[in-house]
Amino acid sequence: MSKILITGGAGYIGSMLCTKLLEVGHSVTTIDLLKYDKSSLSHLYFYKNFNLIKEDIRKKSLIKSLLKKHEYIIPLAALVGAPLCEKNKKDAISTNTKSIKLLCEMATKKNKIIYLTTNSGYGVGEKNKYCDENSPLRPISLYGKTKCEAEDIVRSKSQNYVCFRLATVFGYSYRMRSDLLVNNFVQTAIKKGKLTLYEPHFRRNFIHVRDVVRAIIFTMKNFNKMKKNVYNLGLSSANISKIMLAKKIKKQLKKTKIEIIKNRKDPDKRDYFVSNKKIERKGFKAKITLESGISELIQNFTNDRNKVINNY
Ligand SMILES: NC(=O)c1ccc[n+]([C@@H]2O[C@H](COP(=O)([O-])OP(=O)(O)OC[C@H]3O[C@@H](n4cnc5c(N)ncnc54)[C@H](O)[C@@H]3O)[C@@H](O)[C@H]2O)c1
Repeated sequence: MSKILITGGAGYIGSMLCTKLLEVGHSVTTIDLLKYDKSSLSHLYFYKNFNLIKEDIRKKSLIKSLLKKHEYIIPLAALVGAPLCEKNKKDAISTNTKSIKLLCEMATKKNKIIYLTTNSGYGVGEKNKYCDENSPLRPISLYGKTKCEAEDIVRSKSQNYVCFRLATVFGYSYRMRSDLLVNNFVQTAIKKGKLTLYEPHFRRNFIHVRDVVRAIIFTMKNFNKMKKNVYNLGLSSANISKIMLAKKIKKQLKKTKIEIIKNRKDPDKRDYFVSNKKIERKGFKAKITLESGISELIQNFTNDRNKVINNY
């Protein structure tokens, strides 16, 4: 049993992660301001080894005292997404980058840090290529920049870290987000019966939120052989274009109309395939398919419409 500190544990990834870690017997403390969903962790209150602290991760003295008591540190708290960071520039920098710097400076030798960032900077201008961990990251949004800088800080200041560059996450979570591409397409197809695509051949990589959780647990079990490294983390069979994704959704929601707008540019310039070979060689492979994620999302958005509180 390990003692784990998770920041942002009430979020989309964090609420699924806290739940699984407690289920398998670990002790979990999480700090979260509960910005969006106040009840995404309520089902965990009965665990004696669960502690939710409603606080700001920028509070230095709190973080310092918690670092001493926990072995694994999983900093998820952030302002997530380009529009939210554009609206709150100062907070984005202090939450996404400065707090990580502070955390790394205060961490002790015993702390093992598992840090998640986005792979979204890879694909801008790299058209016919599989991006691996050595491909240059050129984030265009403030969100992407704050996360890339934080990854650099973790890698330069800590000796005991594993960093993941995540594909776009999909699937059901206790704190639901519908701004993520697969989740958004499924919700829109249900609500409007229509998907409108710009630049439909732009390619992306995806991963189910439960596979992200599995990867973190795998990392804890294999920390020594994985540490001091950065890994892409995505589902290799889900390197697909937006039109292929829309067609997969139409297979399950047959009445969906797909409309392609020809002369309009997508502001999101990502167009790339990502290689996940490095982590697969270490023995971890994401396995939850887009098809099963889509069917789970159809259930969620059909039956539980009001529970989504997006970041912007
Ligand atoms: N979801 C994805 O597709 C994806 C992809 C790549 C990387 N990530 C990274 O994974 C992490 C989690 O993302 P998510 O999708 O779960 O986002 P989320 O917005 O659902 O969760 C973020 C959580 O952080 C909390 N938070 C924000 N500022 C805080 C502060 N100052 N103090 C305390 N708590 C604060 C929020 O209340 C929220 O619960 C982020 O670091 C994000 O950059 C996510």
